[in-house]
Amino acid sequence: MGEVKRIGILTSGGDCAGLNAVIRAVVFRATEYDWKVLGISRATNGLMARPPEFTPLEIEKVDRSLTHGGTFLGTTNKGNPFAFPMPDGQILDRSEEIIEGYRMLGLDAMIGIGGDGSMAILRKLAQQGGMNLVTIPKTIDNDVDITERSIGFDTAVNIATEALDRLHFTAASHSRVMILEVMGRDAGHIAISAGIAGGADVILIPEIPYKISNLCRRLDERQAQGKNYSLIIVSEAVKTESGDAISCVHAHGEQRYGGIGQYLADSIHACNGAETRVMVLGHVQRGGTPSPLDRLLASVFGVAAVDLIAEGKFDRMVGWHDRRVIDVPIQNAIARYCVVDPESTLVKTARGLGIYLGD
Ligand code: F6P
Repeated sequence: MGEVKRIGILTSGGDCAGLNAVIRAVVFRATEYDWKVLGISRATNGLMARPPEFTPLEIEKVDRSLTHGGTFLGTTNKGNPFAFPMPDGQILDRSEEIIEGYRMLGLDAMIGIGGDGSMAILRKLAQQGGMNLVTIPKTIDNDVDITERSIGFDTAVNIATEALDRLHFTAASHSRVMILEVMGRDAGHIAISAGIAGGADVILIPEIPYKISNLCRRLDERQAQGKNYSLIIVSEAVKTESGDAISCVHAHGEQRYGGIGQYLADSIHACNGAETRVMVLGHVQRGGTPSPLDRLLASVFGVAAVDLIAEGKFDRMVGWHDRRVIDVPIQNAIARYCVVDPESTLVKTARGLGIYLGD
């Protein structure tokens, strides 16, 4: 048995399937070392609260969480602690309160499960406060660099693929063009993967420009071949033909992508008269039971993160590369935003299948 450590774990940013499976793996592995694990509530907000908000995590508490969606610790994707919006409208730097919370809990190290934005914030906090940080990449968008996969991506692709599978039948029954708008932030990873897997006829991603006239030509060709319907999958961040991003502002003032599907539906109808319908898949892509692949990745990453702490290796992110787990400096993982490479195998495959991708 080694030295007894207290490690904290938190989930930060948008939730996704597989987060509870990561927490479970961390608790299982830490128990092997005989360490204590504290689950921090609502990302760094739990460390900001006084007293700090946390749940002691033991095997009995997490045993059944492998299949549970969401994060039982809670999370947030707003409120950067370095510019934190207070109820009275002030913007405050609350980073020192978080660092103090870490010290109040007597933590030896912390595991942060997050995407690129959360990792950048956590790293800045760790550097400022001398906190021992290891991160685990999670995001349905799969836009964290270096790791080939992030927790939650596979489940999101499964859900989008299933949606396309279902849309095939209703599109064929009504001789319609069905448009599926998927998430992904500024990257088209979900759309390109689900589009190929789900047999879409058109895949639009932010990385490749398109023309409505070319898109409609493709739809007309299908008609001429006797195919009475078409399926389009579009990433939320795809712009209009003239280059405008489409977004909406939610009640608390947060701006999010949304609406490109309806723009396409209207443009296609205006171009060739096709009957169009739009389905916006939205947050359903983040919910529900994690896929076996996400559970596997969660288990691998959870064990590896705890082992890094045992080795005294900090400021590192675990990742998946070439069929094995790796760890890299967090700085390297967040230095570049990972979009779909227009020369990638998936793009070439889609083109090879005759799918319209733009240009
Ligand atoms: O980053 C994950 C993600 O689901 C994006 O794909 C999407 O653009 C955004 O979060 C939605 O955020 P919110 O949950 O705040 O609506």
